[in-house]
Amino acid sequence: MRAAQITALDGPDAVRVAEVEEPTGDDDAVVIDVHAAGVAFPDALLTRGLYQYKPDLPFTPGAEIAGVVRSAPAGAQVSAGDRVLGLTMLSGGMAEVVALPAERVFALPDSVSFEAGAGILFNDLTVQFALRTRGRLAKGETVLVHGAAGGIGTSALRLAPALGAERTIAVVSTEEKAEIARAAGASDVVLADGFRDAVKELTGGRGVDVVLDPVGGDRFTDSLRSLAVGGRLLVVGFTGGEIPTVKVNRLLLNNVDVIGAGWGAWTFSHPGYLQEQWAELQPLLASGAVPAPQPEVYPLEQAAQAIASLENRSAKGKVVLKLR
Ligand SMILES: NC(=O)c1ccc[n+]([C@@H]2O[C@H](COP(=O)([O-])OP(=O)(O)OC[C@H]3O[C@@H](n4cnc5c(N)ncnc54)[C@H](OP(=O)(O)O)[C@@H]3O)[C@@H](O)[C@H]2O)c1
Repeated sequence: MRAAQITALDGPDAVRVAEVEEPTGDDDAVVIDVHAAGVAFPDALLTRGLYQYKPDLPFTPGAEIAGVVRSAPAGAQVSAGDRVLGLTMLSGGMAEVVALPAERVFALPDSVSFEAGAGILFNDLTVQFALRTRGRLAKGETVLVHGAAGGIGTSALRLAPALGAERTIAVVSTEEKAEIARAAGASDVVLADGFRDAVKELTGGRGVDVVLDPVGGDRFTDSLRSLAVGGRLLVVGFTGGEIPTVKVNRLLLNNVDVIGAGWGAWTFSHPGYLQEQWAELQPLLASGAVPAPQPEVYPLEQAAQAIASLENRSAKGKVVLKLR
């Protein structure tokens, strides 16, 4: 089969498409013919050996896929011929065939294409976990989303209203990205430069209830200052590079929380959590209450460019590779 491979830790340029052995998986694995594979920021980090997970070279990146089941063990919730989406979680997704544990494979709603399907699980389940389980999002609240034209960002804009938010404020770096955030459903869009003043004005000085932050870096203190009393800042990632520090007197003085949201680790320590998450998300996607992602699609042959677009900040929304 064909697969994208990281052959050296020199960045996205060292990603090659190669012929490799098909995975066979254990007897209880679901084997899937992959139609599309999601690309996420950790793939870019993996190309430089900067992610906490460091497999031996060469290896295939990719955390999520959508495709058609080739074979499934007895008792699995899916069977041969079913359209599905699935999580490899860390690597292996950017390949024509994957073999996954049955508990990480879910039926793809008929209304959702393979390309959109490959952009759902990794980000939407992270965002749902962050907003609901960790962030205690309540009906009628306002959510500020950093990196709002990125994968996690567009996911947050699509999901937050269905999870109860009344208003979403998107933070982006350029006017072009503002269009992406609007298309993903943002109520308001502001530029990263000067976002604190813009948020203050938009909220009449009150601030927002929740900040979902996949960026970190030097905007962190202004994010804290943008919270309303009782607000929560959800730490999701650090695409900005720098890991911020927090002076805890700010938390005390304003009665606000800074909350870590590490979805992968949570799923490993909470058996059955993925199934609970999908039971909530699936009907929302199937009914259109949560619109499907509108990904930027690259052919497998351009895996290097697709991954580079996240590193060089040119990605528009979720990025997906088409394999069939
Ligand atoms: N906590 C979890 O469980 C979990 C799960 C999945 C992903 N993540 C993390 O979430 C973060 C976002 O992932 P993603 O796939 O959404 O990435 P993405 O699609 O590349 O989006 C990230 C956004 O970050 C912004 N950004 C600001 N400074 C940047 C810089 N120096 N380089 C690149 N982007 C920069 C960009 O928006 P602007 O240009 O508009 O600023 C970009 O749209 C990553 O750190 C990832 O590891 C965490």
